[in-house]
Amino acid sequence: MRIDILTGLPKLLESPLTESILRRAQEKGVVEIVVHDLRDYAHDRHKSIDDVPYGGGPGMVMKPEPIFECVEKLRAERAYDDVVFLTPDGETFTQDMANGLSLAKNLLLLCGHYKGVDDRIRQALVTKEISIGDYVLTGGELAAAVVVDAVVRLVPGVLNDAESALSDSFQDGLLGTPQYTRPAEFRGMKVPEVLLNGNHKDIEAWRLEQRTNRTASRRRDLLR
Ligand code: 6GU
Repeated sequence: MRIDILTGLPKLLESPLTESILRRAQEKGVVEIVVHDLRDYAHDRHKSIDDVPYGGGPGMVMKPEPIFECVEKLRAERAYDDVVFLTPDGETFTQDMANGLSLAKNLLLLCGHYKGVDDRIRQALVTKEISIGDYVLTGGELAAAVVVDAVVRLVPGVLNDAESALSDSFQDGLLGTPQYTRPAEFRGMKVPEVLLNGNHKDIEAWRLEQRTNRTASRRRDLLR
């Protein structure tokens, strides 16, 4: 899979994409993630990528030219399954959407900033608009990092067996089980006996019960 990310603030994406599992996935060659600085596509000597809104109002709007030219250059090199715009008024991101995007060969993510982007970008270039939740971020970069993380870990060959996405919360509609590691007693708090005695049938039954109870009390909406 290849993911291209267009942003006016490439530094915001640096460390989320170059640590841990995302770093390993790129080193293995399973995914390629390329961040493009929109200022490289600016026209004037101040490298402007935003301007005041027509009709007035507060804040700045991202100009169409740098984004169109960057997207057109990339589209000439490969076909994209989706051009995703990260925006608080997009469709709320879910595990189902991550599963769908993980099947793509090429994805292009566009991070908005300031008061938004010129609407012609959304009309002519964007195929999907995604929000990561009902709250407002200063820009789409952190949301793009969230989407990339959730999608890339689902790509075959990224996780090893121990990390397998098959045992994730949400993949089967239940929240996760409580986990413990050594020591068996810490500051008077004991690890549940069932986990210590090594009976796998009992452990599986206990975990399913814990997950069901947790889901019922915290996320009744997930149970049907
Ligand atoms: Cl994708 N962008 C911004 N700016 N704010 C958000 C968001 C995206 N998702 C939730 N809040």
